[in-house]
Amino acid sequence: MNIIIGCDHGALELKNFISTRLEGAGHSLTDIGCYDTTPVDYPDIAEELCHRLLKEHYDFGILLCGTGIGISIAANKINGIRAAHLSDTYSAAMAKAHNNANVITLGGRTLGCELAYSIVDSYMNAKFLGGIHEERINKISALES
Ligand code: RB5
Repeated sequence: MNIIIGCDHGALELKNFISTRLEGAGHSLTDIGCYDTTPVDYPDIAEELCHRLLKEHYDFGILLCGTGIGISIAANKINGIRAAHLSDTYSAAMAKAHNNANVITLGGRTLGCELAYSIVDSYMNAKFLGGIHEERINKISALES
């Protein structure tokens, strides 16, 4: 898959871990930073990643901050983004199957690296079910206007 990833200073280690694993599994990663632990503002990372996701051709995006919450809230302000903040593998699969989330968000200070990767893997292995779920997503889109 073609994936875009970004984090703030609260999740640098987790971003690097997930990126290494995904690249090792043969996926293509575009890393928009941050690249060191100098504090950055997570809304700026969310804005850049989401706008690129909507303009360029990625399968999905991964956003990380300390908790995964702030960056999720920011991402969901952008029309066309359905960001799911995840902390378990079942929700990860449902985020794809029912919500067709195009961004997943994770917490670098709340999740162990292995659990976080399992969450990403569960999301990637799930398929969007369409049907009634698509109709509900269309209702979400209608809320944007
Ligand atoms: C940064 O200190 C922290 O607030 C941020 O990474 C995130 O947890 C916000 O939701």
